[in-house]
Amino acid sequence: MRAVGPTSQLRQLRSCRQSRRLQRCQAEGGGAAPPAAGGSSCGGSERADAVAIEYRGRTVQAERGGTLRTAMLEAGVTPHNGRATLINCRGLGTCGTCAVEVQGPVDPQQWTAAERLRLHFPPHAPPGNQRLRLACQVACQGDVRVIKRSGFWGQGEAVLPDLPAADSSSSSGSSAASVAPLGQLEFVLDRRRQKNTS
Ligand code: FES
Repeated sequence: MRAVGPTSQLRQLRSCRQSRRLQRCQAEGGGAAPPAAGGSSCGGSERADAVAIEYRGRTVQAERGGTLRTAMLEAGVTPHNGRATLINCRGLGTCGTCAVEVQGPVDPQQWTAAERLRLHFPPHAPPGNQRLRLACQVACQGDVRVIKRSGFWGQGEAVLPDLPAADSSSSSGSSAASVAPLGQLEFVLDRRRQKNTS
C-alpha cells in the first residue's frame, strides 16, 4: 500500500499489512518480490488482494474489501473536509462528514440503512445526496475513483481540486495529525478491519 504523507504510526501499520500480504502472496506462489511502491507486483494474488483508490490526483493502494474511509486514512488521505477531520463519528455512520462520490465497485452497491438515514438528513438532501456514499459504510471491491465535494459534510457542489504532490512539504494537508488525529482510535468502529486483524 503506498501512502502519502504518513505518520510513523500509519507507516508501521501499512508495513505490517504489506508484510502480511507478501506472506500470502508467497504462500500462494505469487513470488518473493516485494510490492513495488504504489503498485501491485506480487503476481496474481497481490493484484487480487489490492485495489487502487484514485483521490484528488493521487492514487493509493488498499486491501480489497476494506472500508473506504479506513483505507484512505491509512494511506494518508482523508474523506473529511477541514475540521471534520477531527470532528466526526469515526465510522459510526451518523455524522455524514465522510460523504463522497465513488466510481467503481463497492459493497454494498446500494445505500445501507445508515446511509439512507444520514444522507437524507440536513445538510444532505436530494438531489445532491443521490450521488453520495458514506466512506465509512462501503468496502472497496475493485479500483475506485473517489470524488469529494466542498462543505463540512461534503454537501457542496464544488469538486475539490487535486492535492499537492505526495512528496511535497507538510503543507500538503496529508500530515499525520491532519488525516488521522486519533491514531488507532480512528478505526475502532470499523468491523471489517477488526475482522481482518483478529
Ligand atoms: S465518519 Fe461519520 S458518517 Fe462516516
